[in-house]
Amino acid sequence: MLTQASWIKAPGDFGDVCPVFKKTFAVKKGVRQATIFLSALGLYEAQLNGKRVGDFILAPGWTAYQHRVQVQQYDITGMLNAENILELTLGRGWCCGELTWESKRFYPFDDPAVICALQLNYDDGTQDTLYSDESFQAARSGILYSHIYHGEVCDSRPAKRKWEPALVIDYPRDILIPQQGEVVREIEEIKPVRLITTPMNEKVLDFGQILTGYVKFRTTQPAGSLLEISHAEVLWVTGPRKGCFYTANLRGAKQRITYITNGQDTEYRPRFTYQGFRYIRLDKWTGDINPDDFTAVVVHSDIRRTGTFECSNEKVNRLFQNIIWSQRGNFLDIPTDCPQRVERLGWTGDAQVFIRAGSYNFDVQKFFTKWLADMALEQLDTGAIPAVIPDVLGRFTAGSAAWGDAAVICPWQLYLTYGDRDILAAQYDCMKKWVDCMASQTEDDIWDTGIHFGDWLALDLAEDSYRGATPLELIATAFLAYSNALFIKVGKILGRDTTDYEALYNRTVRAFQREFIKDGRMVADTQTAHVLALYFGLCGDSRQSVARHLAEMVTANGNRLTTGFVGTPYLLHALSDNGYAEIAYSLLLQEQYPSWLYCVNRGATTIWEHWNGIREDGSFWSSDGNSFNHYAYGAVADWMYGVVCGIRTDEDAPGFEHVVLKPVADRRLSFASASIDTRAGKLSSKWSIEGDTVTYEFEVPGRATIVIGEQIFEVEKGAHRYHSQL
Ligand code: BGC
Repeated sequence: MLTQASWIKAPGDFGDVCPVFKKTFAVKKGVRQATIFLSALGLYEAQLNGKRVGDFILAPGWTAYQHRVQVQQYDITGMLNAENILELTLGRGWCCGELTWESKRFYPFDDPAVICALQLNYDDGTQDTLYSDESFQAARSGILYSHIYHGEVCDSRPAKRKWEPALVIDYPRDILIPQQGEVVREIEEIKPVRLITTPMNEKVLDFGQILTGYVKFRTTQPAGSLLEISHAEVLWVTGPRKGCFYTANLRGAKQRITYITNGQDTEYRPRFTYQGFRYIRLDKWTGDINPDDFTAVVVHSDIRRTGTFECSNEKVNRLFQNIIWSQRGNFLDIPTDCPQRVERLGWTGDAQVFIRAGSYNFDVQKFFTKWLADMALEQLDTGAIPAVIPDVLGRFTAGSAAWGDAAVICPWQLYLTYGDRDILAAQYDCMKKWVDCMASQTEDDIWDTGIHFGDWLALDLAEDSYRGATPLELIATAFLAYSNALFIKVGKILGRDTTDYEALYNRTVRAFQREFIKDGRMVADTQTAHVLALYFGLCGDSRQSVARHLAEMVTANGNRLTTGFVGTPYLLHALSDNGYAEIAYSLLLQEQYPSWLYCVNRGATTIWEHWNGIREDGSFWSSDGNSFNHYAYGAVADWMYGVVCGIRTDEDAPGFEHVVLKPVADRRLSFASASIDTRAGKLSSKWSIEGDTVTYEFEVPGRATIVIGEQIFEVEKGAHRYHSQL
C-alpha cells in the first residue's frame, strides 16, 4: 500500500523541535470505507480533523529499523468531513534519538520521517488514494523537545506556524512490513494516593505503585506559565534525605516533562516519551496543587491477561502482583530490562529467564513472535546473538551464554505454552546458528571463551563484581548442553536430522561431568552451579548427591539464596524436582534478606533488579544500575504455577492440549490456587488444607494427568476433586 507513498521529513534543520505535517483534502462523494496506512522512522501521532487517529502509543513501535518497520492501518471512515485536515506529528523516538548510557544514535536515519497512504473507497465503487509527498506542508510543532528517556518540552500556546512544503527523503520502502506485534496502548489510569511535602520541601505525588507510562494533568493556569514535573521510582529510605525524591538510579535519564500553558482549561499528556515511576515531583508548578488534576496512565503492549495465582500468604500474593506489574512495566513493544534509566533495552537473558512465567501470566505469543523475528535478523554471521534485541549495543556484547540462549529457549516456550509449531519453524535457522556458534567455541567440549555475563548479580562474590562466583565456563557449557537438548527436540518435531547434535550433546554432557563434577559433588561450590547441573539434567549418576549438597548449602545459609539471574529461575525447581520441595518453599517464604519477600517487606510494588536494591540498613545499592522494576527475578512465578499448583505443559501435546497437574502442598499455606486461560481452554488448580487433609480441585480443558503423591489419575475435560493426607 505504501509503495507509491514517499517518506517525508522536515524541510530544514528543526533542531530538537518535532515537525508537524499537514494535508488538507476534500471528500466529494459518499465514502463507504476510509483507511489510513501509517509508519515512521521515528514516532508518529496522527490527527484527523483535530481528533487522534487510533490509539497506538509510540507508533510504529520498535523493530530493527534498518531491516524493518511496522505499518499500522486505521479505519477512519467515521472521522471524515467534506473538508479535512490530516496532521502528522513526528518525534525522534528509538529510531532517531540517542539511546543507551552512551547516548548514541544507532540507526542510519538521522531525521525522523513519516510515510502514509489514505485510501477512500466511495459508495459508487470508485477509489482514491492520497499519498504522503511534497504536497504535505511542514512546520515546527509546539513540542520543542522529545526523548524516550528524558521526557518532553511542550509549548502549548497558539503560534503562527511557518508552513513549507515537506521534503521527500529517500529512505527505503522495502523495510515496511505490516504490524506484527501487539498494539501499545494506554491500559489503565491511576490516581495519586497522597501528596507529600518532603523534608527538602519538595512537592511529591505518590501513585502508590511503580508503573510505566506517563502522567496526564489538567491545568487552568494563565498563558505562559511554566509547569515542570520529574519522575522517580523511590524515595530515600535513610540518611539526611530520608523521604526525599531519589533519582540517582535513573543514571541520567531526566524523565522530566515541561509544559507551557496556553491559558485554557487543558489536559496535557506527553506523546513521544515514557517514564518508569511511582512518584512525581512538581519541580515548577503555579497555582494550587490539586492531586485530582493528575492521573498516571499505564502504557504497555496490549497483551491479554491469562494467568492468576493466589494463596493464603498475603506477602506471596503481593509478590505475585509485583511480578505482574513488572511484566506490564517492561512489555512495552519489546521485553525491556527496565523502564526508567538510560537503558530500557531488550536484554535477551532477562527475556529468556522470564518467558515461562510471562507466557502464563499473559498471552505473549504475538509479542515474542515479533521480537524473535528481529533477533533472527540481527544475529551475527558467527551465529552470536546480540545481548539486546533490537541491537543497539553492537557486536562486543554478542554471544554471552544464557543471554544468547534466548534464541532457543523463547521459541521453545512459545511452543509449550501455545502449541505454536510455526515459531519453531520460523526460528529454526536462528537456533541452529546459535547452537553451532556455541559448539564452534569449545575446546575439549568445554566452552571457555567469549564474553559472558555469568550468574549476573549473584550474591556469592563481592557486591560490585556483578558476575557471581559460578565459573563462566561451567555456565557456558551447561547452556550449550541445555539449548542443544531443546534444539534436538525442535529438530525432531520439524522432522530434521538431529544425529550430529545428539553426538554433540553426548560429548558436552560427558565433558561437563568430567570437568565440573568430582566424586558426586560439583567442583564449584555455588548454588547456581548445582542448580544448572540438576535442572539441565547434567549430573548423571551424581544427581542425588548433587541435589543433597544443594539442599545442604541452602539450609546452611539459613534457607537463603545466593543466586543471580542465571541460577534464580531454576533454583526452586532444582530443589523440588529432587525431593526438596520443603526447602524450596522455605526460600519462597523467606522474609530475611536476601529473598523475594524481603523486597515485599521493604514496600516493593514491582520486582527489583538487585536482591539488595535497598539494603537492610536502608541504603541503596550503587546507583550504577539499581532498577526497582526489573522482571527477571519474577521468574519465580513459574514455580508458583508449576509446582505449588502443579500446572505443567506436556511437550508431546503442547498448548495444554494435554495437561500434567502435580501440585505440591505445604502446611505453611492453607490454600493455593492458580488458573491459566490456555489455548485449549480454562485450566485451574486449587488445593486447601484442613487438619491433615488436603483437598484438590481441578478444572481441565481436555485430557489431563493428575498426580497426587504416588497416585496417578488420567482424566478428561471437566472438574475433578481429590483428597489426600499430609
Ligand atoms: C541489564 C540486565 C542485563 C544485564 C546483562 C544490565 O544492565 O539491566 O538486565 O541482563 O545488564 O549484563
